[in-house]
Amino acid sequence: MFEVKNIEDTNLAENPVIAQMSKYDHEQLLFCNDNATGLKAIIAVHNTVLGPALGGTRMWAYSDEMEALKDVLRLSRGMTYKNSISGLNLGGGKAVIIGDARSMKSEALFRRFGKFVNSLGGKYITAEDVGISPIDMTWVSMETNHVVGLPGKSGDPSPVTAHGTYVGMKACAKEQFGSDSLTGKKVAVQGVGHVGEYLVESLAKEGAEIYITDIHEPTLKRVAETFGAKVVGLDEIYDIDMDIYAPCALGATVNDETLDRLKCSIIAGAANNQLQNETIHGKAVMQRGMIYAPDFALNAGGVINCYSEVKGLSSQWAMGKAEEIYGTIANIVKRSKAENVPTYQIANKMAEERIASIGKVKLPL
Ligand SMILES: NC(=O)c1ccc[n+]([C@@H]2O[C@H](COP(=O)([O-])OP(=O)(O)OC[C@H]3O[C@@H](n4cnc5c(N)ncnc54)[C@H](O)[C@@H]3O)[C@@H](O)[C@H]2O)c1
Repeated sequence: MFEVKNIEDTNLAENPVIAQMSKYDHEQLLFCNDNATGLKAIIAVHNTVLGPALGGTRMWAYSDEMEALKDVLRLSRGMTYKNSISGLNLGGGKAVIIGDARSMKSEALFRRFGKFVNSLGGKYITAEDVGISPIDMTWVSMETNHVVGLPGKSGDPSPVTAHGTYVGMKACAKEQFGSDSLTGKKVAVQGVGHVGEYLVESLAKEGAEIYITDIHEPTLKRVAETFGAKVVGLDEIYDIDMDIYAPCALGATVNDETLDRLKCSIIAGAANNQLQNETIHGKAVMQRGMIYAPDFALNAGGVINCYSEVKGLSSQWAMGKAEEIYGTIANIVKRSKAENVPTYQIANKMAEERIASIGKVKLPL
């Protein structure tokens, strides 16, 4: 089984590529180049024990190829854990296209990329990620069927992501307060974009006392007025009296500086990579008696939505599957307490255990 280590610690420049793949147990990397369209991409298939590797394509102006490689290795491995802990029959993969998403896009580039995705014969299924729009994916789909998140298909994943985040938050409340009711609980939501707004809607329905912040003033005002949430400042959010902190915008907001300020007893939000350093801050959160709902388990609604498209399942199925995040988070928190190990480590272990056990099922009879 692959070791759970901080891939950020790795100095890729000093390590050959296959050594990096070996370190984190990646199955395959596909380097894609096409001079005519300017396509430069890397597709990483981390693990396909549970099923085809699913993960989005990111388009980013990486400073160099090593940065792109590091990102795709890290992100693809993360997808393996997310897909596994969510009980999906999917492995983990990711793709990065190196280039400026504002100036380098073209139909030809994305169709060429689609050809590369297709060359993997279904081992990798792609979707949208940072820098990629539905129209880009439509071009990809002209050359391959191994793509999800197309216009008119499973649609915006945000309601499913928000629902999973909401039920997982309730599971944390049950452990921390003895009841999963959020009525009257003070919840601070950082970022009221796609996911944050749906989360606020659920919280408002349940009668939580909601505090919100966002860099986009018009959205902030609209969400506050619609759901009766109180607006707080961008930095003030870390200092307010609250029960639950729900980061739904940025990563790394749980760090040395904010941990001394956060007065909540639960951290549960949709943002990716909330702990600035898993090892240090995962432990620090536990030592403060806070419950941290591991982000990749809590925000899995998005990938659940993609899976429903892969399998031709309904949006009701996706919502139902996202409900299971309640049980997953409850298990993580219980095991974390019983074993006195930070929640993120338990979540990683659970993901690995499922891969190990289902891997045995797949052995030939
Ligand atoms: N959309 C999904 O289904 C999904 C799935 C899994 C994970 N996530 C993660 O959840 C988070 C939110 O996703 P989203 O789709 O709602 O994104 P979004 O871009 O729609 O919303 C993010 C919001 O955060 C605000 N924001 C940005 N910087 C901020 C800051 N410094 N302080 C306060 N607010 C700030 C933005 O103005 C925006 O309104 C992201 O981290 C994303 O990676 C989303």
